[in-house]
Amino acid sequence: MPIPAAALDALRDVLGPRLSTTDADRDAHAGSETFHRAPPPDAVAWPLSTAEVSAVLKICNEHLVPVVGWGAGTSLEGHALAVRGGLTLDLTRMNRVIEVRAGDMLAIVEPGVTREDLNRELRATGLMFPIDPGANATLGGMAATRASGTTAVRYGTMRPNVLALEVVLADGRVIRTGSRAAKASNGYDLTGLIVGSEGTLGIITELTLKLHGQPEDVAAGVCAFATLEDAVGCVAMTMQAGIPMARIEFMDPMAMKAVNLHLGSDYPLLPHLMIEFAGSPDAVRANAAAFGELAAEFAGQGFAWATSLDERNRLWAARHASYWATLKLRPGATGVVTDACVPMTELPGQVAAADADMKAAGIMGDIVGHVGDGNFHTLMLVDPGNADEIAQAKALARRMAERALAVGGTISGEHGIGLGKRGLMEAEHGDAWQVMGAIKRALDPNGILNPGKIVPDA
Ligand code: LAC
Ligand code: ZN
Repeated sequence: MPIPAAALDALRDVLGPRLSTTDADRDAHAGSETFHRAPPPDAVAWPLSTAEVSAVLKICNEHLVPVVGWGAGTSLEGHALAVRGGLTLDLTRMNRVIEVRAGDMLAIVEPGVTREDLNRELRATGLMFPIDPGANATLGGMAATRASGTTAVRYGTMRPNVLALEVVLADGRVIRTGSRAAKASNGYDLTGLIVGSEGTLGIITELTLKLHGQPEDVAAGVCAFATLEDAVGCVAMTMQAGIPMARIEFMDPMAMKAVNLHLGSDYPLLPHLMIEFAGSPDAVRANAAAFGELAAEFAGQGFAWATSLDERNRLWAARHASYWATLKLRPGATGVVTDACVPMTELPGQVAAADADMKAAGIMGDIVGHVGDGNFHTLMLVDPGNADEIAQAKALARRMAERALAVGGTISGEHGIGLGKRGLMEAEHGDAWQVMGAIKRALDPNGILNPGKIVPDA
């Protein structure tokens, strides 16, 4: 249903030229980094303040216009696609760092600030915001999707790093959740409810984020293993041994091939771990030595340390670009990406089974993972025009998710639900999925916020 003319007029009164219905602006908000596709939204708005977001939501709620929040557009499960049309609320112009309270180790930001922008701002303070999903995502989007990435093994996901939020509800009411205190036992955890709600419960207009000290010393490196089982087994042992890893990432031989093409490097085409230690120079040395001993037990070979900041940056840039580098292995391809997360002892078996599935199906792709968290990705390459291929990869993705559930894991450790995993929500949550629906109806009775996502259809 197109946006009623009366609603468009009212929106234009609030936003002036910051409301657009041009094809170019609509198409710029219809993209997806993966295979998900949907028609563009009917209109795009660029609010500048909480008051404007509130006014926009009031209008949309009254006229039953769907509203979809938009940050950097880098999510992988089609979260921000306007599957029921309506208005896309692009929050990238709300990009002020409102306050850095270095002594309290927190920053207050608008949702459109990107994580790289914030870290640039923090450079001189000795502090940092460590959550790093790879893409230069907006902090509002990262909170909305409960993002994590390579540093979660040390710092957790967005959840423990968001202390407080300002949120505009579907009817335009503005609420505040959380506080600047380090901990609280003060009622329902609404911050936790909103973080990861993917724009279905409210629009985040301000975030209070926890900051961390920049480590004194950092050492990163790569280590090759003869088999996938050895590499992943080494991770499980490392975590059980309690060695404090700053990052510990798995890459299979095909992912190393993609990295080599991307970096111009010549790593052997073997399973690898990319690892990082951080802390005082003494701690880094001791932890690296402890890891080295464990790796030797799994016949880890050719330890290559990246000592200079430059080398380290190149290494992690290659890991972070892994998805896009993998896409280049098959020109014109798009990706079907999985992100199951399982208890640590189950990880070696789950990764091996996923690898066997892909090989048996003859699907081109690779496996990488934030294995210190038990979280791994298959990046399956498919021809966007070939429905059979996409269906085959989706069937494998479903199987991997179900396999994770069978051992007490989850369908999504990192990427969220979006369009890709809604069909698995009941399998994971059972009746609790209906509870999510009840919460949604309580906060958004007209169902205008990112409809078609997360919860069952009302
Ligand atoms: C990664 C993305 C796919 O870890 O989450 O590379
Ligand atoms: Zn990831």
